[in-house]
Amino acid sequence: AKSLRTFQGINFESCLDNGESAEQMNKWLLEVSWEVANKVGGIYTVIRSKVPITKKEYGNNYICLGPYNDSFVKTEVEVGESKIEAIRETVNEMKRYGVNVVTGNWLIEGFPQVVLFDIGSAAHRLDGWKGDFFQYAHIGIPYHDRESNDALIFGFCVFWFIGTFIEHVKRIKKSYVIAHFHEWLAGVGLVMTRLRGYDCGLIFTTHATLLGRYLCAGAADFYNNLSRFDLDKEAGDRQIYHRYCIERAAASCAHVFTTVSKITGIESEFLLNKKPDILTPNGLSVQTFAALHEFQNLHAQNKEKLNAFVRGHFYGHYDFDLDKTLYFFIAGRYEFSNKGADMFIESLARLNHMLKSSGSDVTIVAFLIFPTATNNFNIESLRGQSVAKMLRDTVQNVQSDIGKRLYEICLRGRLPTPDQILQASDLIELKKCIYASQRSSLPPICTHNVCNDSTDPILNALRRCQLFNTRYDRVKVIFHPEFLRSTSPLLPMDYEEFVRGCHLGVFPSYYEPWGYTPAECTVMGVPNISTNLSGFGCFMEEHVHQAETYGIYVVDRRYKSAEESCHQLAQYMFDFSQLTRRQRIILRNRTERLSELLDWNTLGIYYYRARQMALQRIHPEFEEELLKCTSETFSAPSTPGVSRSSTPAPPEREEASDDEDDQDQPTSPNQQEQQSSEKSPSTIDKRYEPHLERADSVRLLSINKD
Ligand code: UDP
Ligand code: G6P
Ligand code: GLC
Repeated sequence: AKSLRTFQGINFESCLDNGESAEQMNKWLLEVSWEVANKVGGIYTVIRSKVPITKKEYGNNYICLGPYNDSFVKTEVEVGESKIEAIRETVNEMKRYGVNVVTGNWLIEGFPQVVLFDIGSAAHRLDGWKGDFFQYAHIGIPYHDRESNDALIFGFCVFWFIGTFIEHVKRIKKSYVIAHFHEWLAGVGLVMTRLRGYDCGLIFTTHATLLGRYLCAGAADFYNNLSRFDLDKEAGDRQIYHRYCIERAAASCAHVFTTVSKITGIESEFLLNKKPDILTPNGLSVQTFAALHEFQNLHAQNKEKLNAFVRGHFYGHYDFDLDKTLYFFIAGRYEFSNKGADMFIESLARLNHMLKSSGSDVTIVAFLIFPTATNNFNIESLRGQSVAKMLRDTVQNVQSDIGKRLYEICLRGRLPTPDQILQASDLIELKKCIYASQRSSLPPICTHNVCNDSTDPILNALRRCQLFNTRYDRVKVIFHPEFLRSTSPLLPMDYEEFVRGCHLGVFPSYYEPWGYTPAECTVMGVPNISTNLSGFGCFMEEHVHQAETYGIYVVDRRYKSAEESCHQLAQYMFDFSQLTRRQRIILRNRTERLSELLDWNTLGIYYYRARQMALQRIHPEFEEELLKCTSETFSAPSTPGVSRSSTPAPPEREEASDDEDDQDQPTSPNQQEQQSSEKSPSTIDKRYEPHLERADSVRLLSINKD
């Protein structure tokens, strides 16, 4: 097992080592989320990837509570009766009252116990629970909002479970129960548990604010007006007032309120009227390979799969060199402007122009992966793959026939003549394939038939920017309006394989509390672009000195106009396209070396601390434990930068302090190497500096744009 690391001056390992296990202490952790064994977006990744580290501390006393989703349970959960008596009895009691509760183990690393509530089976209680919620929390839920009704039923099931569970566990000896709730959809359970005064430490983590997401998706100049929004009115106008009330009540009822980044911390302070008690940045479960450069091999293997797809997709127009082709991509839930797809497309058009006018022979194939409603794959895309397959099969047959003939002739002690090698019949077969691969239309910009083709924002932006995959375009685009899966007949790769095969992930988000997609790229050694409006981008800027030299590019969307940000993004992509293969390999090595910083073994300390705070708030005797995981540098949210100009504004950090930082940094490769061997990366408080191989640090100079 990997060891826990020291970060920001806190030794995680020694924090956990307090002599008694959670089981011995009768200490329990219930993790409550709509995305337990139920994939929607990044929260699923938070919970899933965090399991191994959480089990290290809680063992079998860690239980995940979520909604029952039939299709996910079939593939992700091993259903079975719980071995823990308190869970069994609680579940049996709920079942006696007609609520279907499914228990089992989630089939992921760590194999955690799950308790899943079947919302439909408790729907008959909806009206009663609505009344109770109004009585206690004074929040009314309109009958037509299905999502809120489901959240209410889920919340009451969780509340019921917690109450009964606590009764059972405390019968044995004094118990310590913490319940950690994620996002407003789980908020009702928290509010009710607090209002009924249960003996349970309550943590609420929000991964975005409802209003923030809505306002940003509209036309609001969000970051400049954070303090000016009339919150009730804005929520009312968008018909989410009751949801907003649940979110705000959960933040205020929690013993400990957390969010995933500084930027969302500031947003919460304004939009939820509550400053987070602690920030809990998202980590990942980092895969370590036996061979150091295995991830580079995986890149090459998966790129080959992308090459195969591209050969088919561009049949008839396949006149570019795959050896000089780079794969860029953007992916996520389809929030067009929040995820920065608008800026990506605009910058791709500029990149196209830059590559053409500089006479570059590099081709960029840019993938856009955003699920939306479709009527299946389009004929042209499928045809491309089958044409390529037909040609490949024909060439293989011809090749094998040639081999047999050569063997026969050589066995007779003769050398073959050219017409004996390639016969007329072979040429006919090959010609048939070549004629079949001629096309009158351009290679499609989308792999599927999108239902709302004429109003789809990505298709319209591609049309407006005239990115049509013509022969003259150096930037080709492929919109894949479905999440990737290894069973796809068109692009049979899962998301991880796809990311590994690409060269650059581009995520120029406008609204992104954290942003797992660039973080996942980083741990897979894929250079990526994010923004200083995303939690991840800010985190990397704060912790990695000259992040750019590690393949972490952060576009300034905070202090620059959209025009300037587009320009910066296009320039980053252009500069990347001009790197040599050798430079790309070095850059990938450097990117991958930042994995440690994003590993839960490093970042798990923040969640640990949030739990210690919650315990201490209801059991003051935990004060000492809490102090153990506290340091001065430990993340307290900064005071909000009140005004965020969308036109250039002076940087927040003073020049002088920048200089000071620079002085801390190695000035020459030799010094750099020396310093990195003096300090272990995990003990550097101020900035994270991964170990470098000497060869890499020397070569780095040629990558570094300075
Ligand atoms: N993702 C995926 N398949 C895809 C694209 C994305 O499974 O084709 C996952 C990705 O691995 C990431 C999550 O979706 O973990 C998106 O999380 P993020 O925090 O970036 O954004 P959110 O959707 O939560 O706003
Ligand atoms: C990895 C492989 C190399 C391969 C390279 C291609 O590093 O180990 O064998 O040459 O990928 O890199 P590129 O950036 O051109 O896809
Ligand atoms: C939310 C945010 C995303 C974040 C994820 C996990 O869905 O949109 O930025 O990474 O939660 O915290």
